[in-house]
Amino acid sequence: MSLNEIANQLVAPGKGIMAADRPSPAFKELMQSEGIDHDDDSYRNWSELLFKTPNLNEAVSGIIMTDEQTRMADGRGEPLLPQVIERGMIPGISPFTGMVALAGSAGETVGSGLDGLRERLAEYAGMGVGFSKWRAALQIGPGTPSYYAIEANAYVMAQVAALSQEAGIVPIVEPEVMLWGDHTIERCYEVTEFVLSRAFEALYTHRVDLEGTLVKASMVLSGNECARQADVDTVAELTVKAFKRQIPAAVPGIVFLSGGQSDYHATAHLNAMNAKFDLPWKLSFSYARALQREPMAVWSNRAENVPAAQAALHHRAKMNGLASLGLWTEELEREALAQ
Ligand code: 13P
Repeated sequence: MSLNEIANQLVAPGKGIMAADRPSPAFKELMQSEGIDHDDDSYRNWSELLFKTPNLNEAVSGIIMTDEQTRMADGRGEPLLPQVIERGMIPGISPFTGMVALAGSAGETVGSGLDGLRERLAEYAGMGVGFSKWRAALQIGPGTPSYYAIEANAYVMAQVAALSQEAGIVPIVEPEVMLWGDHTIERCYEVTEFVLSRAFEALYTHRVDLEGTLVKASMVLSGNECARQADVDTVAELTVKAFKRQIPAAVPGIVFLSGGQSDYHATAHLNAMNAKFDLPWKLSFSYARALQREPMAVWSNRAENVPAAQAALHHRAKMNGLASLGLWTEELEREALAQ
């Protein structure tokens, strides 16, 4: 399959991506903070629950995994990655090895993991991995994100994108402008537009084929501590405006991260953008938290809760799949709750 065909498959109508790439130490921390007991098998059991959710492929086209997950076997000893493919979903890889401090900056970060990446990507491609994802985490604050951090991250993301395409893997470029802070939505708009413009300049310099690239973007939102919270229509309008100005129509799709938004808002915002605007690219989801928050609470690391947790995941995926078509309604959520 060509890069463009894989990219189009990832944003096929009514489908989006599930980000399952929380590494095991962060997964254990999350379980601890939620008051859920964990043991040596928890990460495997959770990954298996996610990957084997019945009919997940109705709304999920691909799954972003950690290196550990790509090599994982299920409880019966069967490798999980081929089972994801058999279930009609494309495995993806988050090949970075962690965020590191950007030298000379005031606490800003850049992703690490470029060493040996060409060889690792070739290996992943041989395993059936179809796409990669690389994140930049840019925090709005006094004097941040700095021009330095925006440029450094854009450059690294573009290098990873070029290396991914060389290996036949579709890069998902993720310049996240984070939700945390008391900034206004107007400030988030300004930062998002600038960050996207720098990211695309770097992709151009690195000769990245845009038809074979997806963007994983944050929405234009009021900071979580801002006293004035923008409504759904304003979020949709400003997000689409920033994208139309900075993301070329050659890109097949933009998939959102949820970034700490509630499940409701992640779905409602996505729906409003698709329902109200004429868009040159597909606009869909690549959520971690907004798909998995509820399933994890239902599961609580108990085998008997797996079917109910999978039903909760299927439901959220389905709702977001509808939102990617602009067809989601609050009534659909209520109907599902009543069942
Ligand atoms: P969230 O949807 O939780 O922001 O995660 C997205 C992501 O990039 C994880 O890989």
